[in-house]
Amino acid sequence: MNTHDVILHLLSGKNKKPALQSSTCFAPVNIALIKYWGKRNTELNLPVTNSFSVALPNKGTTTTLCVNPLGYDRYTLNGELLDKDTEFSKRLSQFCDFFRFENDYHFDIETENNIPTAAGLASSASGFAALALAFDQLFEWKLDKSSLSILARLGSGSACRSLWNGFVEWQKGERENGDDSFAQPYPVDEKFLNSFCVGLLVFEKDKKVISSRQAMLNTVNTSRSYKNWPTQVANDLDAIKQAIARQDFIALGEISERNALAMHATMLDSQPPTDFCTKKTREYREKIAALRKISVPVYFTQDAGPNLKLLFQKSTTETMIEHFPEVEIINL
Ligand code: DP6
Repeated sequence: MNTHDVILHLLSGKNKKPALQSSTCFAPVNIALIKYWGKRNTELNLPVTNSFSVALPNKGTTTTLCVNPLGYDRYTLNGELLDKDTEFSKRLSQFCDFFRFENDYHFDIETENNIPTAAGLASSASGFAALALAFDQLFEWKLDKSSLSILARLGSGSACRSLWNGFVEWQKGERENGDDSFAQPYPVDEKFLNSFCVGLLVFEKDKKVISSRQAMLNTVNTSRSYKNWPTQVANDLDAIKQAIARQDFIALGEISERNALAMHATMLDSQPPTDFCTKKTREYREKIAALRKISVPVYFTQDAGPNLKLLFQKSTTETMIEHFPEVEIINL
């Protein structure tokens, strides 16, 4: 099944004409604690494994979508018109192609991110989730959350997790058309969730040298250690769920950090190797390890980029600010 068939199936019996002039939706950024790394189907963004994330409330993307009569799309990002040749424009255009239907609609998409774009902070996830919500609203489809998650996944895999606050698990699914591959909120005691924080350490602002999509593909195709990745994820998922059930922050931090390191190890082993770490990344990793040695419970996770996200308890906020004055703290 190709994407076109999947979309037609998902929207069967739904409006193929926009019902509103415009729609505006917000979706939060999600930080994977157990990473999505590798696809079994690159067209439908179907993953090899489940993954598990936590949302950053109030940090994310607000998207406004309108139909325009111009015969071409216009995309703006944080108020600036995007060149149609940028990678992000091409991906937006492919996503819009799903919804032009017989009338060959064209769209204006205004994307506002309140997080640094493409600095390894998963703005494409909140971006495609907000856009999926905006299409749903514009056409008045009223899709359920699982279908919206599938729609967002077709834009970017990790976007399927950006429709909820709190912990979210993406079930990889088994079926070839991906209709069982979507995310769901994972139950957690609110008090436990609210007891820890994510700290954004953005020490490298330049765009990354290789996209996560490309690095992921390259890893699956060439990394010898990738064969161990599904087992690593299964074990880490099991362990993180147990840690959440016990409300054990230290175990949650340890598991998240080791999962991120294992993902980076599969990339280092690919041909050519991908190393997203800069000198600063290594310095910060060492600083975090040194703090743990003096009994400060702080851990990191790292996506396909050089910047780190700290995981720590609210009760240690003062210590974090002291050691990482530039950190942007997000309370969960
Ligand atoms: C390292 O969701 O950006 O952030 O499906 O190709 O759009 P595509 O990939 P994307 O990959 C995210 C990878 C990651 C880990 C994660 O978020 O789980």
